Amino acid sequence: MALEEVTREKWATRLGFILAAVGSAVGLGNIWRFPFQVGQEGGAAFLVMYLLFVAIIGIPAMLVEFVVGRSSERNPINAFDRLGHGEWRFIGILGVITGFLILSYYSVVAGWVTRYTFASLTGAYFGEAGAYFGQISAGPAAVGFHALFMVVTAVIVAAGIQKGIEMAVKVMVPALLVLLVGLIAYAFTLEGAAQGYEYYLSPDFGVIAANWTSILPAAAGQAFFTLSLGMGVMITYASYIDEDRNLGVDGGWIAFLNTLVSILAGLVVFPVLFTIGTEPGSGGPGELFAGVGGAIAQVPGSRLVGFLFFGVVTIAALSSAISILEVLVSYAIDNYSIERPTATAVISAIVFVVGIPSAMSTDVLTLFDATTAQLLLPLGVFLTVIFVGWVYQDSAKELAKGTGSDASGTLPVLWLWYVRIPILIVVGFVLVINATEL
Ligand code: PHE
Ligand code: NA
Repeated sequence: MALEEVTREKWATRLGFILAAVGSAVGLGNIWRFPFQVGQEGGAAFLVMYLLFVAIIGIPAMLVEFVVGRSSERNPINAFDRLGHGEWRFIGILGVITGFLILSYYSVVAGWVTRYTFASLTGAYFGEAGAYFGQISAGPAAVGFHALFMVVTAVIVAAGIQKGIEMAVKVMVPALLVLLVGLIAYAFTLEGAAQGYEYYLSPDFGVIAANWTSILPAAAGQAFFTLSLGMGVMITYASYIDEDRNLGVDGGWIAFLNTLVSILAGLVVFPVLFTIGTEPGSGGPGELFAGVGGAIAQVPGSRLVGFLFFGVVTIAALSSAISILEVLVSYAIDNYSIERPTATAVISAIVFVVGIPSAMSTDVLTLFDATTAQLLLPLGVFLTVIFVGWVYQDSAKELAKGTGSDASGTLPVLWLWYVRIPILIVVGFVLVINATEL
């Protein structure tokens, strides 16, 4: 749809926006990245830091993007011009670059998940879930599945049928929750369950104190990645919201549902890892496949369960990938007068090529992942926070719309000052640690 139209299309139903935003948020970040970060950062200590970060930084930062999107009714690059501060449009450009990089390896991981969906039908990974991952995660076949996933994503975006995907989200999120709860029940019966829960849920505050310079940036990166913050997706989606919606309420729901899915995924992965004797963190990006794959192999009806589980995760990944590609495509359409199908084809081809090294080597993939999540997304959030807190004058007014109060209401004022100082300091601090550690 043309983003410069005078009367802009709005989300048709009350749920439209929430569905699209949840579709973007819930994805590989929850099911794949989250368990792998927990394992790498020592378990429950990371979980605590991550939950804190989502609650006290993630949600208010999401509102920052909502404010830019809804008040400008533009894509993340043109939004700044529209709000009278074109000199800040580099934030949008940075978002586009970040989007290219994230989508390039996101599609590779989604390719692995697609492969596991089919492999469930034959039981190919049932013997050794971890070893199978080693065979399929890097090499020409991984490039092939990366291509397949990118083509499907591109076809949906080229045809402009994202609305169909929003409807799929309505089915997907409940289906994912049901499948996860079933797998959790199975994992609960395992020998290693108690150890898994202990590792995942019982934080050692000494560990946090000793390792906070590594845990904090990892938690921040995971929070921004999983909430789709720092590259303009939430600006874009919020540009279609009506003024009578309460942004804070919607943001809270999105963050809550997203966090629920992550927590449940961990409740499957860690009991299984302790049962099969794999040390958490040792599997790196293969953690999910060893953990959940190992569980699926054992449950009754494993072929069907595996097919459904990985199939649903593929759809979750698709709705997230679409949200990233849409930012890139709408930028090209609005700024270079290219047609949607051409823009989508060209951009997807570039994303595919950029992703090839990640499909050939999981080390390259984890490097792309760490750099984008821990450096580029926090940088995007940091700059948008400065803009909304200190440059744009109507931030509190925009947030207040739909809440029944005005810009001088307690919540909008508190939020604005909270954005201006504490959030700016914390995110700035994360960037400094990362810049020195990465
Ligand atoms: N939030 C998505 C996930 O958790 C990934 C994503 C990151 C989507 C950044 C859009 C922008 O899988
Ligand atoms: Na997520």
